[in-house]
Amino acid sequence: MDDEVRKDESLTRRIFLAGSWSWLRWSAGILLLYPVFRFLGYRAPKQPRSVKVHKIVPDGGFVLEHDFILFVDKNGPWAVSRKCTHLGCRLNYHEKEEVLLCPCHHSRFSKDGTRLSGPAQKNLPRFPVVALREDKDEKGYLVTL
Ligand code: FES
Repeated sequence: MDDEVRKDESLTRRIFLAGSWSWLRWSAGILLLYPVFRFLGYRAPKQPRSVKVHKIVPDGGFVLEHDFILFVDKNGPWAVSRKCTHLGCRLNYHEKEEVLLCPCHHSRFSKDGTRLSGPAQKNLPRFPVVALREDKDEKGYLVTL
């Protein structure tokens, strides 16, 4: 009888140790793989890019570039992205209505990038613009994307 109880205890202890060993192996595996998954998921931060616009734009005018539209009025220049905030189609500018219109699903944005209508939910990003000085033989604007 005494031997049977001891046998049951040793089995319980054996099962417990086997289960612990299994958990320990899983924990060690996860700890070792964590840096690998972090490395694989790492994306380098996007570097800012500067684009020169070599034009003098009159007040009320605009310049259509590949990635942005530069507007100029009496308050100065500003630039908004041409990438629609819905699914990323390239926006066109409708001069008569003074709106940016997405050809894909017809979202509309004002000149300052505010969303007016359509499936897009966010406003367009604005980019900083610096007017280049004419005395340095550089005419135009520097837009930082
Ligand atoms: S991509 Fe512009 S509204 Fe859908």
